[in-house]
Amino acid sequence: MVNTFIERNVADWKPTHKKLAELLLDPKTPLFQRYRALFSLKNLADKPSVDIIIQCLREEKESDLLLHELTYCLGQMKSKDAINVLCETMADPSLHAMVRHEAAESLGAISQLDTIPELEKFLNDDCKPLADTCLLAIEKIKYDHSPDKQKEDPAPEEAVHTSIDPVPATTNTKSIAELRTMLCDQEAPLWKRYRALFALRDINNDDAVHALAEAMETDVVSSLLRHEIGFVFGEMQNPASVPSLSRVLANTKEEPMVRHEAAEALGSVATPEVFEILKKFTDDPVKIVRDSCIVALDMFDYEQSGEFQYAIVPKEGEGEKAF
Ligand SMILES: [Fe+2]
Ligand SMILES: [Fe+2]
Repeated sequence: MVNTFIERNVADWKPTHKKLAELLLDPKTPLFQRYRALFSLKNLADKPSVDIIIQCLREEKESDLLLHELTYCLGQMKSKDAINVLCETMADPSLHAMVRHEAAESLGAISQLDTIPELEKFLNDDCKPLADTCLLAIEKIKYDHSPDKQKEDPAPEEAVHTSIDPVPATTNTKSIAELRTMLCDQEAPLWKRYRALFALRDINNDDAVHALAEAMETDVVSSLLRHEIGFVFGEMQNPASVPSLSRVLANTKEEPMVRHEAAEALGSVATPEVFEILKKFTDDPVKIVRDSCIVALDMFDYEQSGEFQYAIVPKEGEGEKAF
């Protein structure tokens, strides 16, 4: 199966694409290597890379964690070619909630007005993280196409992170106390809470971390919001988040998608104590959590190694290279 695909497209592909496709599409490749191959393709950001990721999304049967990351990358690559497969993924009730959520969020990242009717179909879905994500994605698409966007967006050189966020950071205030109040208000619309969340991420000092940690550990209404805080802690790489992330990872009553983000964020913060914490959960009964810890330990290695980027991009003509 894998080889048929590669042979069919071989004329268009560079050796790099072939190598990365072999690694990503083969279920026997260790998960952490498939992750690195995926992020290499995301960095290449060209049509063959999108095709390979879509092929993997259609074929993958084993790993919900990989499926959710494939859908995430397609959104971050802003690939219009991926819209159909993302709509199918979002609509498939046999898939894990985390995968369907990520597909909806990626449609928001690609931000095409004509996908709004697709997202509207799931606004009342029983899967709450999916319903909430669709609501945020619709608001984001409308925002992206409104005059507010030009008014509020920071100049590209001022942007702290290069990722496409599901909701823009608020520009109304930079007061941590005010942002904390907005974020922790469990009655407020998610859109407003998320805007505070991303503003706190951009501030990224210890007080901002403490406000985010408080929301992650006290919120009871939205696992989606709690998982997003875990995700931004990975971007912030602030050691002040480690105690809170460790408690969330260890909390077996917490939703797997939140514990997953906590694990990956710990791998990315990568202070020395993180290694033992992650190792402890590599045999967690929840597959997504233990797989996240395995991937996070590889991210930890990468952070410790001082390598240039979390990916593998073999040089042209180079065979097996590695990391
Ligand atoms: Fe997510
Ligand atoms: Fe994730």
